[in-house]
Amino acid sequence: MFDRIIKTSDFIKDKMGQASPKVGIVLGSGLGDFADKIQDSIEIPYDEIPNFPKTTVKGHKGRLVIGKVQNTQVAVFQGRFHFYEGYQLEDVILPVRVLKYIGVNNLILTNAAGGINSNYIPGDLVYLTDHLNLTGNSPLIGPNDERLGVRFPDMTEAYNPQLNQLLKQTADELSIDLKSGVYAGVLGPAYETPAEINMLHIMGADMVGMSTVPEVIAANHINLKVCAISCITNLAAGIGHEKLSHDDVKEVANMAMNKFTLLIEKVVKKMEALT
Ligand code: HPA
Repeated sequence: MFDRIIKTSDFIKDKMGQASPKVGIVLGSGLGDFADKIQDSIEIPYDEIPNFPKTTVKGHKGRLVIGKVQNTQVAVFQGRFHFYEGYQLEDVILPVRVLKYIGVNNLILTNAAGGINSNYIPGDLVYLTDHLNLTGNSPLIGPNDERLGVRFPDMTEAYNPQLNQLLKQTADELSIDLKSGVYAGVLGPAYETPAEINMLHIMGADMVGMSTVPEVIAANHINLKVCAISCITNLAAGIGHEKLSHDDVKEVANMAMNKFTLLIEKVVKKMEALT
């Protein structure tokens, strides 16, 4: 694994040339178009990156885009690997580890999620304060490589409080209503049943989705500061009355694109200054 990470990051560093992004972003379902806003960009399709699997989900373009957002250098993964697609968890988290090895210090993960909290409406942006790992799995299963991180990583502040504060403060400055909540990470790919959503609600979840949790575990393991933003694309099963479809998920996420873009553009500059 270690050699694989080094080989992959060396390849990317070679392509990057002078660029040295300190902020990394992973774009979730329906949020991929953000990558089009990046200027002076170097684009590397995943199938050209050594060791990278190919993306298969509709609506996910698989490429790494390195360039500038309002003069701040960023490395953006447009499209992610999900466990439910049949990838190994070590493939799912490879982008996170590679970001660390190309010199990124702060990571923003984004995703589409179903709203459980009754204060959420579709189109809302919510930053994660914590999560429930309900995948029944961990990307750290197996022998631990001490070069990557410790055997038992602390997850008390899994979502970096300083980054969360920057997100909140920046949203306030932009008059964007950014909510906060606990994300339940499930396996998918079927959406939940109403009984499952009721259970998640009782467990303390505000929203539910099929990504992010393995990446947050990997980021904490490798000592990479991470925060995450969910776009609430639908009310979770049994909370709303609509049938759930991936097309609707993408459409709503796209509608939130304007405020999402404003927020990210401004916050990356502040995150860069932290490093
Ligand atoms: N459940 C799980 N994942 C999701 C949902 C949902 O309702 N919406 C978007 N991703």
